[in-house]
Amino acid sequence: MNKRKFKVQIPETDDDVLQGEEQFIIEYNGEKTRVRAHDYDKIYTVPGLYEYLFYDKYKCKSPEVVCSLLEKEVNKTSMATSDLKVLDVGAGNGMVGEKLKSTGADTVVGLDIIEEAAEAAERDRPGVYADFFTEDLTRLPDSVKEKLEKLSPNCLTVVAALGFDDIPPDAFIEAYNMISEPGWVAFNIKDEFYSPDDRTGFSLLIDRMLDDGFFEMNVKKRYRHRFCQDGTPLHYYAVIGRKKKDIPVNMVLSY
Ligand SMILES: C[S@@+](CC[C@H](N)C(=O)[O-])C[C@H]1O[C@@H](n2cnc3c(N)ncnc32)[C@H](O)[C@@H]1O
Repeated sequence: MNKRKFKVQIPETDDDVLQGEEQFIIEYNGEKTRVRAHDYDKIYTVPGLYEYLFYDKYKCKSPEVVCSLLEKEVNKTSMATSDLKVLDVGAGNGMVGEKLKSTGADTVVGLDIIEEAAEAAERDRPGVYADFFTEDLTRLPDSVKEKLEKLSPNCLTVVAALGFDDIPPDAFIEAYNMISEPGWVAFNIKDEFYSPDDRTGFSLLIDRMLDDGFFEMNVKKRYRHRFCQDGTPLHYYAVIGRKKKDIPVNMVLSY
């Protein structure tokens, strides 16, 4: 195993620690930098830091949970995981892509809004993604649309990337509509974003997807996504299902 080339300190604070606002002082290459948990650009730049913070320290198990549930559901049908052509959105440095490939997926293409994710995925997990797009889903250039249409993905994965300041509902709809029918859809979402109190729009979106027949849900499983810095367990739902038809991009999602 490679020796870690960085050191991590947790700054003292009197404030309540919120998910994503957790702070770290990272010492790397002789420099100290303060980063927040959702500063993915800075975190991916340091090899092994994302895995150390979220997986070793705060016990994140979402790629494992979501991909295993997907695999189980696929195996209940006449399809096999080797039939899957996956669009992995919010791919980060490739943890989900790696898991999908290890369960036998035929092809995985990644998409993330920041360049640092593409660089880290190539650096840390070369060969996992057949292609990796650094794009905003709501503003995809025609060349990327054409490549995705040619691939015709039959599976969408979005892990640990919905809500907060990450992927909003309209971008999720764009990704959803790129999947063929009856494609597989596997994502996770924080429990409070899939509850009557939600104001991110996701709870309403999922309800509309089900009520209006855009989506058939096979699995909705609540589980511990990871711990927060203060030790609070953070619970998410893993959702696995089949796309039935495109979602109208202008669907009104207001309360
Ligand atoms: C917590 S990371 C999850 C990475 C990976 N899926 C995993 O489970 O390890 C969230 C990722 O979503 C990406 N992201 C945020 N907003 C996005 C957007 N609008 N479009 C695409 N990716 C986005 C971030 O850059 C970040 O890499």
